[in-house]
Amino acid sequence: MPSVISALGLPPRDVRAALHAASLAPSVHNSQPWRFVLRPDRVELHADPDRALPATDPEQRELRLSTGAALLNLRLALHELGIRPLVSLMPQRRAPDVLAVVRFGGRVQPDAATKALVAAISARRTNRAPFVETPVPPQHRHALVRAAEAERSWLHVVSTRDETAKLKGLVRRAHGVQLADPAVQAELAASTGSRAGFRHGVPPRSAGVRPEPRDEWAFRDFLPGEPHERHAGKDYESDPLIVIVCSFYDDPAADLSAGQAMQRVLLTATTLGLSASFLSQPIEVPPVRDELRRTLGGTLVPQTILRLGFGLPVPPTPRRPVEDLLLEAKSAEI
Ligand SMILES: Cc1cc2nc3c(=O)[nH]c(=O)nc-3n(C[C@H](O)[C@H](O)[C@H](O)COP(=O)(O)O)c2cc1C
Repeated sequence: MPSVISALGLPPRDVRAALHAASLAPSVHNSQPWRFVLRPDRVELHADPDRALPATDPEQRELRLSTGAALLNLRLALHELGIRPLVSLMPQRRAPDVLAVVRFGGRVQPDAATKALVAAISARRTNRAPFVETPVPPQHRHALVRAAEAERSWLHVVSTRDETAKLKGLVRRAHGVQLADPAVQAELAASTGSRAGFRHGVPPRSAGVRPEPRDEWAFRDFLPGEPHERHAGKDYESDPLIVIVCSFYDDPAADLSAGQAMQRVLLTATTLGLSASFLSQPIEVPPVRDELRRTLGGTLVPQTILRLGFGLPVPPTPRRPVEDLLLEAKSAEI
């Protein structure tokens, strides 16, 4: 099994810390679909095909979004260690599993904003529980929009009643398609409850409350098969902030950029005391995604939908140890 070595001029201890930060990124069903190859002059970020979810994520779009989130964490961690990361996305046509290569781009002094985002990496988590009714202030919304722009992506803020109603309908439609698809349900069951692995999947403690048909938004059920009733007073907030992370192009590199934007939005939200969860069903069902894209005007490519608000603390989900994420460096150089 490969071990952590020096890379980019950093000692193994710092390389390990940077990879650990990368591994704390969110990923669809907590699949952690990333692997790393370490070479003295670069860190390569690979897709882990064994972690793909062919029914839920047939185009591996969410695999790339998740890996893009890990890439942003890696960039921020390197920045805090004084290194300016020089990143190439999808560097080789012949090797589509190599999603990014990070090289030494010079030395840099970490600023306060970077340090705050790095601190948010371990504090951030997906919060599926109901939020309190306090609305998200406009200045927080602006900060989230700027966070997506900083990663060359777009944050669409759902703001009218009509648009909210339309999106609720699309989420419900896609949710229904997925409930009727045994392969999608099998992937969910394999990632939840006692069938999830010790180091991956969504444990029951992170599932939030059990979604119910009366809920306005159709949330994915991470407690399938558990027959408990929701307690009184545990309903979802009436008016969460709903945003859609969008890219300007529709190709694998755009998915990686959108993943970095998604993560910068989530980390920025964490620094502002906001909680977030996902409503991914419309992205995962291609005809519904096409309709969502038309709803947005046809130019933007919707990549992920987030629900934001003020929530109570929730526990972290497990991660694979850094050593399990390393791939042997083959002789062929990228
Ligand atoms: C691209 C993507 C899509 C996701 N979709 C959903 C979703 O539809 N519903 C949900 O509850 N969580 C969703 N998640 C959240 C993951 O389940 C979560 O990131 C993972 O379990 C790790 O937990 P953490 O975010 O608390 O670290 C998604 C995450 C990513 C990156």
